[in-house]
Amino acid sequence: MSSVPVIAIDGPSASGKGTVASLVAAALGFHYLESGALYRLVAYVGGTDPARDAAELDVAFLHGKIILSGRDVTDPIHTEAVGNRASEVAKISEVRAALLERQRAFRRAPGLVADGRDMGTVVFPDASLKVFLTASVGVRAQRRHKQLIDKGIHANLAALSRDLEERDARDAARAVAPLRPAEGAVLLDSTALTIDEVVDKVLMLFRKRNGGTA
Ligand code: C5P
Repeated sequence: MSSVPVIAIDGPSASGKGTVASLVAAALGFHYLESGALYRLVAYVGGTDPARDAAELDVAFLHGKIILSGRDVTDPIHTEAVGNRASEVAKISEVRAALLERQRAFRRAPGLVADGRDMGTVVFPDASLKVFLTASVGVRAQRRHKQLIDKGIHANLAALSRDLEERDARDAARAVAPLRPAEGAVLLDSTALTIDEVVDKVLMLFRKRNGGTA
């Protein structure tokens, strides 16, 4: 078992996991893994054998950009359509198995912050801190709506809210690695909190567990 500390941040779609996880990683000087990007990449490739695509992904994470076979695909993999398709390929146990070691390889000194659905339950069960980040579906849909509008992408709030609920239901109901809080996870509801408040809470929890050494 590795002694490199991991902070696992799981939760439903658009709960702010990615933003929180990358800010926590930056504050601690830790590496950051956006595990959802791997499922999104498999969906984006869209081949007939998703498990093989998962095993063969030629991907690099460079300065916040996601490079697939030499091409920057950061924006195209983060559309709602690819997110919904990702939750379909994520049901396939062979896809999950093919991505497991790839995710664990991100665990390097001085530490890792990883966000997704099964970071605390399956990928890093020995994480130093596990957080399950939630927010009401209304607030999550509003946040995602604002993100898309800010990027100049047309979005419909009601449709977004419906898609989020469908995706969460699919992620929670699947047989392999369903979305659920890990044992010992701290439940954090960000409905009434700002990003900075959530980041501060996670940092405080981690420092408390680490005996104030990080
Ligand atoms: O986090 P993000 O919205 O980018 O994830 C896209 C989809 O990938 C999720 O809806 C989920 O089905 C899948 N996923 C997963 N396990 C993870 C991360 C993402 O099943 N650790």
